[in-house]
Amino acid sequence: MDKARVAVLISGRGSNMAALIYAGRADDCPYEVVLVSGDKPDALGLSLAAAEGVRVARLDARALGADYWEKLNRQLAQAKVDLIALAGFMKIIPVSFVDKWAGRIVNIHPSLLPKYKGLHTQMKALDNGDRVSGATVHLVTSELDSGEILGQVEVAILPSDTAESLEDRVLIAEHQLYPRILARYASRPYDAAWIEQQVDALAARLPEVIRKSNHGAPGWGVGNEKAAKNFAIMADHFHGEESVGLLVRASGPDEMNGLIEAQPEIYFWPKYYGASGWLGIRLSRRDVDWDQVADWLERSWRSSAPPRLTKLMRIADQF
Ligand code: GAR
Repeated sequence: MDKARVAVLISGRGSNMAALIYAGRADDCPYEVVLVSGDKPDALGLSLAAAEGVRVARLDARALGADYWEKLNRQLAQAKVDLIALAGFMKIIPVSFVDKWAGRIVNIHPSLLPKYKGLHTQMKALDNGDRVSGATVHLVTSELDSGEILGQVEVAILPSDTAESLEDRVLIAEHQLYPRILARYASRPYDAAWIEQQVDALAARLPEVIRKSNHGAPGWGVGNEKAAKNFAIMADHFHGEESVGLLVRASGPDEMNGLIEAQPEIYFWPKYYGASGWLGIRLSRRDVDWDQVADWLERSWRSSAPPRLTKLMRIADQF
């Protein structure tokens, strides 16, 4: 697995940034921090990142105004960033930026979300008489502190705690949580079970789809239980292949050879199955275009579905 290239965005001290940088140095860590930036050019953490030999982009969001997000995007592109980790980054992110990076921005928040979004989280926990506080790593969506929760850690509240003492202890927990969860997230594109779940969700959108294994491999069929015909089959490291792939039906060897020649990083000729018109799509990659996979599934479904179903699809296409 190639290491995911991570940019960390900060606004201040950068202690979580430091935890991410140090964890990323382990040989077996699936990510590395390749860029640190943020909205304040004199944020403390930027000097630490520079001293650690990490590339730093000092951007001044206030001075740049509307150009800020474009400048940041340029830096991220230059550093060939796969994932963005927010670590005490206090600027509200516009929808256009979130959309561009959908599913590739994670954040750490000092509460057990969905409790206490926003600021002053430890004060709120104390005021409510909570017994535990904690921290959450979640995906960033356009709604503040509301994306999919990727991991959490609880921190006990002591009777003697003040907001400051609790913040200090939650921070220790954050430093443990963030690198671990980011590592797990960075390896998700290579996880066969996760890939299968994504394909399953896309296949389930098509009519009369059932799970139908094929020679022991998970697969999907169309039609009723007895007569169902496979239109997609998982190919996990199939006969010496390096990747987790999906087999779908193409129109024949000409189309398959053309695709494989043009995009060998995406398409492959599956042993045994290729001869009967099955094309392999590599899915254990960081840049899978899931819309394209959905299109292939639909095409493959159409070529396997009984006429009574494809007829309905053709009628639906006209509208
Ligand atoms: C951390 O406690 C982080 O959870 C919090 O800011 C602190 C940054 O500290 N983030 C938020 O409140 C985001 N809503 P650090 O700069 O030392 O990592």
